[in-house]
Formats: sequence, C-alpha cells, structure tokens
Amino acid sequence: MRQKHSDYMHWAKTESRARYNLATSGVGPFPMRELGYPLERLEINGGNSYGYPPLNQAIADRHGVDVDCVVTAAGTSMANYLAFATMLDAGDEVLMEHPTYGLLTDAARSVGAEVKPFARTEESGYALDPAEVRRAITPRTKLIVVTNLHNPSSVLTSNAVLREVGDLARSVGARVLVDEVYLDAVYEETPRTSAHLGPEFVVTSSLTKVYGLSGLRCGWILAQPDLARAMWQMNNLLAATPVYPGELLSVAAFQQLDRIREKWRPVVEADRVLLNEFLDRETGVSAVRTGFGTTSFMRLRQGDAEEFLARLRAEFETSVAPGRFFGMSGHFRVGMGVNTEMFGEGLRRIGACLAKA
Ligand SMILES: Cc1ncc(COP(=O)(O)O)c(C=O)c1O
Repeated sequence: MRQKHSDYMHWAKTESRARYNLATSGVGPFPMRELGYPLERLEINGGNSYGYPPLNQAIADRHGVDVDCVVTAAGTSMANYLAFATMLDAGDEVLMEHPTYGLLTDAARSVGAEVKPFARTEESGYALDPAEVRRAITPRTKLIVVTNLHNPSSVLTSNAVLREVGDLARSVGARVLVDEVYLDAVYEETPRTSAHLGPEFVVTSSLTKVYGLSGLRCGWILAQPDLARAMWQMNNLLAATPVYPGELLSVAAFQQLDRIREKWRPVVEADRVLLNEFLDRETGVSAVRTGFGTTSFMRLRQGDAEEFLARLRAEFETSVAPGRFFGMSGHFRVGMGVNTEMFGEGLRRIGACLAKA
C-alpha cells in the first residue's frame, strides 16, 4: 500500500503549537469584520457547478489569464493534489526540488508517482539550478515540481530560470508545476505568475499564506484550457462543487486584495529585521537570507537537530518546523508575520538554547 498521509500536516495540526510559535508559515489572520461583507448578502447555495463564475473571473483577472485556464480548489493543498491526480498515473516519474514542502512529495506519492529529487543546495543559496534538473530528467519524466518562493528558504526564482526549466520539461513532453503560494510575499514589484511562461506551466496558489484568509480555503490552479477542463472533471470525483459562501467571501476579498495584503506586511518586515540581527550575531546557525517571504530555513552548525528542537520546546517553550519535513534533518524553519514580540522572544530563546548546548 502506498503512503496516503502526511506526517508534516499531522504534526502541524497536533504538535506545532507552543508559547513562542515560530513553526508558522503564513501571516496572521485577516478578520471577517475587516472584510466589510454584509452578512445579509451571504447565501448558502448558488450556481457554482464548475466554480462560482465571478470568483473564477476574479482569479483570471488578477493573473491576466483567460477564465478557461482557472480551476478552483480548497486551498493550495487541494489544488496541488487535484493537479497531481489529473496529470499523473501510477509509476510516472516526477522530479521534485529538494528540500521542499513535504506535502508535495507525499501528495505525488499518494497518487502512485515515483518521486525523484533534484538538489537546491545551501551552498548555492538554495537557487533553482536548471543544470540539476537536466541531470535528473529522463524521457520518463512527466512533471517537474518547484515552489516559488521556495518553501522552506523563501528564495525567489526568476522567470528566466523557470523558462529554462520549462524548456527542459518540453524537451521530454513533461510539465512544470509551480506552487506560488508564497509569491505575493514579494511586496514590491511582485513577479508575474509563471503561468505566462508557456503551455507546459501549471501554477497553484491560494489566498492563505500571504493574505491571512486561510479559512476561506480559496485556492486555484492555472493551466491550459484542456488541462483545466480535465481537472474540473477530476474534481467531480473529489469535492464535486465548491463551498458557495466561501466563494462569495472570496470574491469580496479579491475586490480589496492589495489592502488585505498590506495588513500584515509591517509585521513581516519588522520580523525580518529581527531575523537579520539574529543571524548577524548567532554563530550556531546559518541561513540563506532573502528580502522577502514569510519563512527562513536555518542549519544547525553542530549537534543533533532533533535533540535541539526537543530541548527548545521543553526548556524554552519555543517551536519551529523541523527540517525533516522538508527532507533535511539538521535544519529547521522559522516563520514570520504573526507577532513581532513573539518572534523576537522566540529568536532570543533559540539563541539561549544554542548557548546551552
Ligand atoms: C508550498 C506550500 N504549498 C501549499 C501549502 C498549503 O497551502 P494552503 O493553506 O493554501 O492549502 C503550503 C502550506 O504550508 C505550502 O508551504
């Protein structure tokens, strides 16, 4: 029986909380009252067989694509699963960046794909290197999977590099899935979605991590119309139809998305200042620094990371996301954008735990 669960998601739901919780990945919550949506307009049922048309259109407009290219899904999580389940058959080869968000690997394996990693190394600043893709690709490759921004490091990949990866994919008849759930955390000159780079690109994203709207579960896939149609058909086996009240609220969110994104930006930016100060003074860890994103991936220079994280939690009441969930024990991820006081104290406690090693 192939693996049909995610150790990371179970851990995140049951064990990640702590007084100083740096195991987060997105910004804090955006409250309903600030959306300004009149409750008397909310409705339970409506016409949404293949998604609520105004929401599909809002997603298309925001990304500059045709509405036929849009498929909606419950968060990026379901978007990724739906994309995998539609595009992959058992035994298909999938190239996956390493380190990456564990759920991508788990979801691809759950549909029977053979996952083959290619490296994004700390020495190269976790850069996505087309040469690594070229080394790993074979005529059997069906899909290449990357995150942009990169989870866990928050490193941005340029469209030029993604285009090179797209060329490699096309040369063997494969596609590239780019999970862009963190891309809008580049607050200035936000890059355009890679959905425009060519027909082999499939993009997933949502209003969760950067907007604080996780509860709406507003996710989507951008793909060529024939593939998008196949995904809607696949979805008939899964969710069948979306949650209508969630779609109404999501349309309201799209009408003021820039304002919503700004809400937590000062917290993300204040946290990054603290992060950089921490990295300047702390010799026990190393990390690739970025100017954007809500996460940072740290390498413990000495000692056993699992033991360190257990002590950090038990003695210092601080949690971080263990590197094993990204395929790299010896590392851990910290999250920004929720509460600067908590983040600063959490970093201080990581420092104290390192000093006590
Ligand atoms: C790369 C990546 N994709 C998808 C998700 C899930 O996002 P959503 O909450 O939209 O389902 C996460 C959550 O941590 C993530 O890190």
